[in-house]
Amino acid sequence: TPELVPGDCNPDCAIAVDVLRATSTIATVLAAGGEAVQVFSDLEQLMHVSDKWSPEKRLRAGERGGGKVAGFDMGNSPLDCTPEKVEGRRLFISTTNGTRALQKIENAPTVMAAALINRAAVVKYVLEKQPETVWIVGSGWEGSFSLEDTVCAGAIAHSLWEKTSLPIEEIAGNDEVIDAIALFSQWQNKLLDLMHQASHGKRLLRLDCHEDLKYCSQTDILNVVPIQKEPGVLVKL
Ligand code: MLT
Repeated sequence: TPELVPGDCNPDCAIAVDVLRATSTIATVLAAGGEAVQVFSDLEQLMHVSDKWSPEKRLRAGERGGGKVAGFDMGNSPLDCTPEKVEGRRLFISTTNGTRALQKIENAPTVMAAALINRAAVVKYVLEKQPETVWIVGSGWEGSFSLEDTVCAGAIAHSLWEKTSLPIEEIAGNDEVIDAIALFSQWQNKLLDLMHQASHGKRLLRLDCHEDLKYCSQTDILNVVPIQKEPGVLVKL
């Protein structure tokens, strides 16, 4: 995952990961009955597109630097995505890194969003589809490595490895995958502790988002696969 989008092959399937917190939020919105999630890198474009939707049918989420953008309905906390708030609505969302990562991979034949909370559901779908090449794309922070996305990539790869019983060299397309599996193996029983070590985890703690860290460090609690139906628009499979 350290390299945001490897350039030397075309994957059959690309999985965006932003555990803290964009892909955790996307999975939560769709599990809570949201109609779809539409992602934007640009805040103005988000406003422009969502203006055409009635306020009852839309929710606007804007995050920069971990905080909520003024004028938006919400920031990027998955805990705000209750069924009462999101049911039947489309979430228009722009975040610092996660939504950009999704836009960078939008041309892959299959695009999904994964976090720790929906890891098992995504793995199950990958095993059913049996794609030849899968990218797991960590969003990181402004282009750099992040612990939380790497551990989630490791959780996905570890589970694929366990369930297929293939040798690790057949599962791992590069050294980063083996590194991510090792990180997950070491921290799998203390993922919340790892979130506390992560630089973006610390940033969120300074913003009083302890409950978000707790929620996002749980594994396999949502049976939802967010999948792209058209560029930039994800729906529940
Ligand atoms: C991002 O896209 O960088 C994150 O999701 C930031 C956040 O925690 O809101």
